[in-house]
Amino acid sequence: MCGIFAYTGGRNAKPILLEGLSMLEYRGYDSAGLYLSDQGVTRTPGAVTELRAKATGESSAKSGLAHLRWATHGEPTEENAHPHTDCDSNVYIAHNGIIENFNELKQGLIARGHTFKSKTDTEVLAHMIEEELKADKSFEDAVVDTLKKVHGTYGLLISYAKEPETIITARMGSPIVLGIGKGERFIASDATPIVKHTKKMVFLEDGDIAIVTPDSHRIRTLKEASVDRKEEEISWDVGEASRGGYPHFMLKEIFEAPEVLENALRGRLIVNEGRAKLGGLESVAKQLEKLDRLMITACGTAYYAGLIGEYLIEDLAGLPVEVDVGSEFRYRKPIIGKKTAVLAVSQSGETLDTLEAMREGKRRGALTLGVVNAVGSTIARETDAGVYNHAGPEIGVASTKAFLSQVTVLALIALFLGRARSLSEEDGKKIVKALMELPELSKKVLAKSDAIKALALKYKDARDFLFIGRRYSYPVALEGALKLKETSYVHAEGCAAGEMKHGPLAMIDNKFPTVVVIPMDSVYQKTLSNMIEIKTRKGPVIAIATEGDVRVAEIADDVIYVPKTEEQLTPILSAIALQLFAYHFAAEKGLNVDRPRNLAKSVTVE
Ligand code: AGP
Repeated sequence: MCGIFAYTGGRNAKPILLEGLSMLEYRGYDSAGLYLSDQGVTRTPGAVTELRAKATGESSAKSGLAHLRWATHGEPTEENAHPHTDCDSNVYIAHNGIIENFNELKQGLIARGHTFKSKTDTEVLAHMIEEELKADKSFEDAVVDTLKKVHGTYGLLISYAKEPETIITARMGSPIVLGIGKGERFIASDATPIVKHTKKMVFLEDGDIAIVTPDSHRIRTLKEASVDRKEEEISWDVGEASRGGYPHFMLKEIFEAPEVLENALRGRLIVNEGRAKLGGLESVAKQLEKLDRLMITACGTAYYAGLIGEYLIEDLAGLPVEVDVGSEFRYRKPIIGKKTAVLAVSQSGETLDTLEAMREGKRRGALTLGVVNAVGSTIARETDAGVYNHAGPEIGVASTKAFLSQVTVLALIALFLGRARSLSEEDGKKIVKALMELPELSKKVLAKSDAIKALALKYKDARDFLFIGRRYSYPVALEGALKLKETSYVHAEGCAAGEMKHGPLAMIDNKFPTVVVIPMDSVYQKTLSNMIEIKTRKGPVIAIATEGDVRVAEIADDVIYVPKTEEQLTPILSAIALQLFAYHFAAEKGLNVDRPRNLAKSVTVE
């Protein structure tokens, strides 16, 4: 998720663009760039401070493009920063999204003599528009005919040196907002950098293309030359705008679940073969086939995702898996054989304990793999191979969307390994079908946010919580407890449901609620018995159950129903419900949900 901003009007564009871009730093911050018609392009690793330092010199340009990158294709370097341009530096492009078919398009362009300067997917578009312009098409037609050949997601800003006042923007999957001022126009990935200048906005829809000049904007689609889009008056302040109107980044990031799940799955499923396609693992596919043991290492929420990965990979690929927290793995002298791989799971890719654990595995001869969100981060760079989450930057310290993406990617890895081993095409197809349904199913859980808020209010005075679950739901219970602990500072303990009677049950009384994660899966009856054990001790029970399960409602005090899916994927839907519960519980207490006390987003110390 990158931040893009453009301006065309009567004022000097440079200060407007740099200030606006700094408000978008929560969207991405690994590299930045600026295009001004009288200064050309300035690009730099780092964020706006570095760009400001580099983009010296006076500019009187009245229009320009700016971009803040969150790398997906190509490491965060100066060459890969946006805007990108064509062979003759006539066309300038800033892009937020992923062009899926960029490689085949690129090979065709290279064969026709184009020279590429970056490793990005985006640069392809500049060269395609260049070709259309050379075929004597108008700027508008050149863009439209180019987009007809493109697959993927984009929020685009395009400038043409020969028409500096005109900016063309297009939306497919990534947000674009148009700001309407007097004799000036603003275009951005969200309202944040615009609300300061004007409250009049048009939110483009997927498939929209807008041709924008200082005094006008016309919206069209690939098929229709003109479509109407309503103008809205936005009352948000800058803070609200950066949170997309949500009161906290944590809630915004929970509600990003559908897009995050789609981004984790995009281009990675071979539906008719029931397989997963993971480009980042292809270079080590041979070694992966011979693996006889996988050791997963991670910390905090990522560790709980790793625990679910253990169930998934043993279940679907029959490969023995061990999971350990980074801070223990690095000092426990792990036994590593020639056919052992160590998989590090990390949102930031910089967590020191996980990094050092991975390095320990490498020192002992293991193949090292990564599931990482931050492109170009240390763990991503030092592992032999891996899979990126593409979940976009996660601002809230309490990890939410990254957890969903980590579990989804681990399910893809289990499918990838399983189909290379004993998993049948039929079973593979079942998992693929269920994975593809997740984005829509997640919306059903999100729709229960208000009901979950009411539940959090009902239990707001509780000082202790127990979270229990079995099999895939056990790590979910651990994660639910962690979310409540780190956002609202109450005592919350996660426990394997079967372990309860070996101690934790002693804590239970009518003031000690238990959250039971109980989907209708292979261990449903066992978990139900545990729930009855709690009720017998007068313990209040909140159940996270499968839609249509009437039995559970007869026993539990409160039930949050989530849609049915394959057992292996139930953690993703149950986790959304627990993330919402923790969020509302903490928000109702007026706590700083995005910056909980004593915690940091990326723990780079031991
Ligand atoms: C989770 O909400 C916490 N922020 C923390 O436990 C986190 O998961 C842990 O520090 C690991 O971070 P990473 O995924 O960036 O490696």
